[in-house]
Amino acid sequence: MHALYFAAVVAAVHFGTLAGAHKYSRSRHHLFARTPQYTTNKTYTVQDFYQAEDFFNEWTFFTGSDPTGGNVAYQSMSDATSKGLAYVDDCDNSTVLAVDSTSSIPAGGNRPSVRITSNKSYSSGLFILDAAAMPVGCGTWPSFWSVGPNWPYAGEIDIVEGVNNQATNQMTLHSGTSSACTIDTAVNTSTSEAYTGHVLGTNCYSTPTADAGCAFSDTDTRSFGYGFNNANGGVFALLWDTSLGMSMWHFARSEIPSDITNRAPNPSNWGVPAGFWSSQTCNISANFYQHSLVIDTTICGNWAGGAYSSSGCPGTCSAMVANATNFVNAKWIINYVAVYQ
Ligand SMILES: *[C@@H]1O[C@H](CO)[C@@H](O)[C@H](O)[C@H]1NC(C)=O
Ligand SMILES: *[C@@H]1O[C@H](CO)[C@@H](O)[C@H](O)[C@H]1NC(C)=O
Ligand SMILES: *[C@@H]1O[C@H](CO)[C@@H](O)[C@H](O)[C@H]1NC(C)=O
Ligand SMILES: *[C@@H]1O[C@H](CO)[C@@H](O)[C@H](O)[C@H]1NC(C)=O
Ligand SMILES: *[C@@H]1O[C@H](CO)[C@@H](O)[C@H](O)[C@H]1NC(C)=O
Ligand SMILES: *[C@@H]1O[C@H](CO)[C@@H](O)[C@H](O)[C@H]1NC(C)=O
Repeated sequence: MHALYFAAVVAAVHFGTLAGAHKYSRSRHHLFARTPQYTTNKTYTVQDFYQAEDFFNEWTFFTGSDPTGGNVAYQSMSDATSKGLAYVDDCDNSTVLAVDSTSSIPAGGNRPSVRITSNKSYSSGLFILDAAAMPVGCGTWPSFWSVGPNWPYAGEIDIVEGVNNQATNQMTLHSGTSSACTIDTAVNTSTSEAYTGHVLGTNCYSTPTADAGCAFSDTDTRSFGYGFNNANGGVFALLWDTSLGMSMWHFARSEIPSDITNRAPNPSNWGVPAGFWSSQTCNISANFYQHSLVIDTTICGNWAGGAYSSSGCPGTCSAMVANATNFVNAKWIINYVAVYQ
């Protein structure tokens, strides 16, 4: 949620000096010979399966001003419900979380939207989001992410994120402790591929004023925005394993592994992940703990607003806030979020 795509390179350079001061103990020499291990053969069993009304009963509607500076007015559950911005579609049990697309809002004003946070928190596990659609439209900034207490100390994991007309999904970790955390690019070799995504920045260390984090961009245009929706959505998975690292996959609707559909997920069947953060260069348990899950859509703000002029979208971001029609498809249609341990 804090990722700034356009700032990633700058931040990676900026934090190069800091990384040197907190070097991880394992020598680089070892890294080249190692086979990347991004999954286990562990058997996962469901811990929490959120579906339909569960998002209203077991998650909390955030009503503060947007911490990322967006042009949104986050709604309480009762206001979101009465405005038709949060509801269960009786036809298929999907949960819809929408941006207001009917109100007259002035340019630069705050358009009603929804941000929900799971009451429960997690410090590892296998997390799966199945969505039929995600919010699209100029100025929008949707995200499915997780965050611990006292940001950034307990870290942040951005599983689905992007802005404006972004073509592919961005996956980002933000670490906030002095325990070094970087993407280990040495694990991806010609004989042993560890991730399919493009590395955008390798240093995960984030502060309130420099929070690009370490990121991958997916290579599949079905992983975000219109491409995701045109493929009837799909699944995103995060394997958060304190001994191996973090791995993330995206599957378009037609390619969802049957073990996921059958609720007996086995990541060792899923192939190379889109993003992989090896525990060899990041102490996972020191940097990421007690995370609540978050689903939101903001508008403009730090990232969607900052990147707007180079996005190909018309006019300015603050003017687009006033364009109700632009937000007709700015909605999440969520089939479920599952947490396995
Ligand atoms: C999972 O089990 C299969 C079959 O026993 C084996 O080939 C594979 O290496 C195992 N994967 C991991 C990550 O342990
Ligand atoms: C809809 O979701 C609710 C809440 O999880 C669940 O109890 C119910 O069985 C679901 N209905 C269908 C048809 O899947
Ligand atoms: C989740 O938290 C909200 C806000 O504190 C509370 O109203 C709700 O009852 C909680 N849900 C559960 C299932 O505990
Ligand atoms: C990862 O390794 C594969 C196989 O060698 C290669 O095709 C790909 O370009 C590498 N990815 C990155 C981001 O270096
Ligand atoms: C990772 O951090 C935890 C908590 O600070 C610590 O107990 C553990 O020893 C660290 N592991 C490594 C490999 O440094
Ligand atoms: C308003 O949004 C719609 C849908 O994105 C777009 O077609 C139209 O050009 C926008 N109007 C203005 C004035 O930007």
